[in-house]
Amino acid sequence: MKKLLLFIPIILFACNQDKKKSNTTETAKAIEIKDPHSFSDPSNCVVTHLDLKLNVDFKTQILKGEATWTINKIGKIDEIIFDAKGLKIEKITLDDDIKNAFFALGDEEPFMGQPLSVDIKPTTKKIHIFYSTSKNAPALQWLNPNQTAGKKFPYLFTQSEAILARTWIPCQDSPSIRFTYNADITVPKELLALMSAENPQKKNDSGIYHFEQKHAIPSYLMALAVGDIAFKAIDNRTGVYAEPSVLGKAAYEFADMGKMVTAAEKIYGDYHWGRYDVLVLPPSFPFGGMENPMLTFATPTVIAGDRSLVSLIAHELAHSWSGNLVTNATWNDFWLNEGFTVYFERRIVEQLYGKEEVQMQEVLGYKDLKGSIDEMGETNPDTRLKVDFTNRDPDLGVSDIAYEKGFFFLKNIENAVGREKFDAFLKEYFNSHAFTSMDNDGFLAYLNDNLIKNDESLKDKINSYAWVYQPGLPKDFTLPISETFNKIDSLQKQLMASQNPKGLNKEIKSTNEKLYFIRTIPASADLKLITALDQEFGFTDSGNSEIQCVWYTLAINRNYKVAYPEMKNFLINVGRRKFLLPIYKALIETPEGKKLANEIYKEARPNYHSVAYNTLDEMLK
Ligand code: BES
Ligand code: ZN
Repeated sequence: MKKLLLFIPIILFACNQDKKKSNTTETAKAIEIKDPHSFSDPSNCVVTHLDLKLNVDFKTQILKGEATWTINKIGKIDEIIFDAKGLKIEKITLDDDIKNAFFALGDEEPFMGQPLSVDIKPTTKKIHIFYSTSKNAPALQWLNPNQTAGKKFPYLFTQSEAILARTWIPCQDSPSIRFTYNADITVPKELLALMSAENPQKKNDSGIYHFEQKHAIPSYLMALAVGDIAFKAIDNRTGVYAEPSVLGKAAYEFADMGKMVTAAEKIYGDYHWGRYDVLVLPPSFPFGGMENPMLTFATPTVIAGDRSLVSLIAHELAHSWSGNLVTNATWNDFWLNEGFTVYFERRIVEQLYGKEEVQMQEVLGYKDLKGSIDEMGETNPDTRLKVDFTNRDPDLGVSDIAYEKGFFFLKNIENAVGREKFDAFLKEYFNSHAFTSMDNDGFLAYLNDNLIKNDESLKDKINSYAWVYQPGLPKDFTLPISETFNKIDSLQKQLMASQNPKGLNKEIKSTNEKLYFIRTIPASADLKLITALDQEFGFTDSGNSEIQCVWYTLAINRNYKVAYPEMKNFLINVGRRKFLLPIYKALIETPEGKKLANEIYKEARPNYHSVAYNTLDEMLK
């Protein structure tokens, strides 16, 4: 096998095979970029289409089948390199030839896996890789019936972002490489299979499901879920999938999905993907949501019963533009996916629920961001928008920096040029870059050429350099303000004077208000007052996961043991990493708490996805 030159600059060709299907102007564009998190070398050879055949075996917990890649040779080459991690490659053949082709798997590297290089011929068009996944493949979570709502059937789901697709499909696992796909998935007859593609709405008798994704997508958007799943329509282009016992609640919670799509289209142009559906997963799903094209995967913890957490759906929907249509070129450009998406999310939320709702979310977002910067240190290079995760697992780059600092940068541009101009700019940005990838410098160049132009005073106002390349927050950063939260500040002061919370729950009603209130309870509030507050609001027994998370964290910090049984239940039943981290972190602050954390973790860990337990193993060791 030839030596792999990992970190040389390579030319990436944004794929334009999607031209016929989409009405945007998809132009083939060469970008000079290096992706430190993939072994593939797309300057020589890229994949353009995948035909995937997989059998889902719940007994062995293994996926087995064939991935056939159609390739496009750019250089004069005799090999192609894929990413693989923990895959067993049985054999590889080329085109219609039944003879085995020569392939080699390189050395295994931490989190990266192995380069899989295949010798090809000048005429080669298709590569058939016969393979199976290994037990404990990090992208896959196999649930036993007990871990589902129905308790009767097993369940499987995948999570490919950021670089886990290579643990269930041999692929060029870089977000800058796009391909269309077809798949045939065989599952037990009593279960339904769904993918990030056009989906069936009910089970069939054969247990074989066929999928087509006609738009070119990057590998991190490959997704599969298999379980006892049913469908309910919201309107003619949106709907929800969930286990039967969850379906009604999910459909109630997400009733506004159709309106969200329409609201998003108003600002950023057509929704390109056909249907928009949401799959509500069992509670071990490690994220709030994952923007798999046509089928967002979501945590059931977003179902609060009162629709108060549905901005998460607006977020995943917004990714249909920022991320799925224009994609971060590497994981070092991650803020282009998430910062843009938080900005869009809040624009959608504003249209549906008003400005004050967004103001509150901005203040809460700022508090998260401030907390993260303080924790990381304001000179920490990882607090820049342009980060460098070369030689580190990109999963470590998932922080409030990409999301909230990214958001505040874009909001700053909006303030500088005015909404109308910024909207026109963004719409054109998405249109002209649809189905391609973008890196940090590329975006800044586009911003300069199309918005800032030669306006020096505007350039100063926008201050891209400070936002993107410097750590912490720019000096002239203006704090977001919410009138509603200002009122809560006063109530908080009155409470500290009176020490009597009676009647407060008539004034602090919405989820946002409660979240802000809990987060601003002064350190001087004693156990007696915490107890009285719990009696007034019933926070310990709240059915709202966001409230539970902040309340249990506070309970641990203040040694309020009444909340511990519910806190433990929450940690055992919920696998969403964002909730687990602060609670375990608070627990390990004291020796006694650390002991309890380890006891709970021992019981809870089998319920967690690898994304969650990898982070927690590190924290609790
Ligand atoms: N794409 C992310 C989830 C993700 C990020 C997975 C990085 C793997 C690596 C998704 O869109 C997301 O941001 N989810 C958030 C929800 C949101 C409302 C901020 C989450 O899971 O909490
Ligand atoms: Zn996101």
